[in-house]
Amino acid sequence: MKCFRACCKSIKLLRHSPFGTLSAFAPSARTNPFYNAFQPALTKRTMATAMAKRLEGKTIVITGASSGIGKSTAKEFARTSPKNLKLILTARRIDSLNQLAQEIKEEVGEGVKTLPVKLDVSNPEEIKNFVPSLPEEFREIDILVNNAGLVKGVAKAPEIEAEDLNVMFSTNVTGLINMTQAILPIFKKREDGGRGDIINIGSIAGREAYPGGSIYCATKAAVKSFTEALRKELIASRIRIIEIDPGQVETEFSVVRFYGDKQKADAVYAGCEPLTPDDIAEVIVFAAGRRENVVIADTLIFPSHQASPSAMHRKN
Ligand SMILES: NC(=O)c1ccc[n+]([C@@H]2O[C@H](COP(=O)([O-])OP(=O)(O)OC[C@H]3O[C@@H](n4cnc5c(N)ncnc54)[C@H](OP(=O)(O)O)[C@@H]3O)[C@@H](O)[C@H]2O)c1
Repeated sequence: MKCFRACCKSIKLLRHSPFGTLSAFAPSARTNPFYNAFQPALTKRTMATAMAKRLEGKTIVITGASSGIGKSTAKEFARTSPKNLKLILTARRIDSLNQLAQEIKEEVGEGVKTLPVKLDVSNPEEIKNFVPSLPEEFREIDILVNNAGLVKGVAKAPEIEAEDLNVMFSTNVTGLINMTQAILPIFKKREDGGRGDIINIGSIAGREAYPGGSIYCATKAAVKSFTEALRKELIASRIRIIEIDPGQVETEFSVVRFYGDKQKADAVYAGCEPLTPDDIAEVIVFAAGRRENVVIADTLIFPSHQASPSAMHRKN
């Protein structure tokens, strides 16, 4: 009972302090026996609050938001800064985007405005029309998450289908570059040489090529080169160029790779504990939520049992 009362006192102190979560630093809280137990969680919440503030008022475009990492990223942005945010959700499957918009509304309410837009990034004409056709209130974009991407097949040269080769390059490389070129002029009009974030989703595949993935690996290596050159080109601005490179993540990625064969896709993850799309979404939102002078330029994220595309510990 004594223990319960002390716990309640801790919670009350936190709730009623004029400093909000910082009340943990108030002397009365510090002398409380439960201060030490609660302190790590409180520090975390304070950091999260700062991040929410930094993201407040931003307009964010996410490509490939209908599934996997893109979908999780939209939800993570909404949860992190639910009071005042605009999310432009793009992909080819408009029904999935409408569904996502509904889920976000149900979860966080009206503070996050969503705009689902059907957009095929492999089609340069669609990208050209993308910004001009946005409603006025969604045009001042602050963050572009270049996430749309795919892999097709496991063929080795000279058996690679021309269609697979073309779709991977036109989506993962040309699509990402065209989106960047469409949004950058908005960033560059701002003071200090420009402001805004471009967050490119690369892959471990762009760092270490593997057999049966030559084209996909080449596309992600191209993303890396483009990203690094861009960061140097924009050095005199406040535009942050960020690359997030995931290792193995369980999404629709492998289903797409095996042309819809779910059994083959599931075999990829047999005995493994892959990352979830939420794991990557958290890193994306963290990068976007840093103080303006902090650039998380590059990241590589593995699950515990992975160290390269092929170095993977399988439990059975
Ligand atoms: N999963 C992994 O293990 C892994 C690892 C490293 C990197 N990545 C990268 O992470 C990114 C997201 O993949 P994911 O794992 O989340 O896979 P996913 O679940 O298959 O999602 C891919 C997303 O890209 C969209 N997309 C594909 N082609 C498009 C096009 N032409 N135009 C617009 N959108 C398009 C898809 O939407 P629609 O089909 O509706 O257009 C979908 O929303 C990709 O760039 C991928 O290369 C994934």
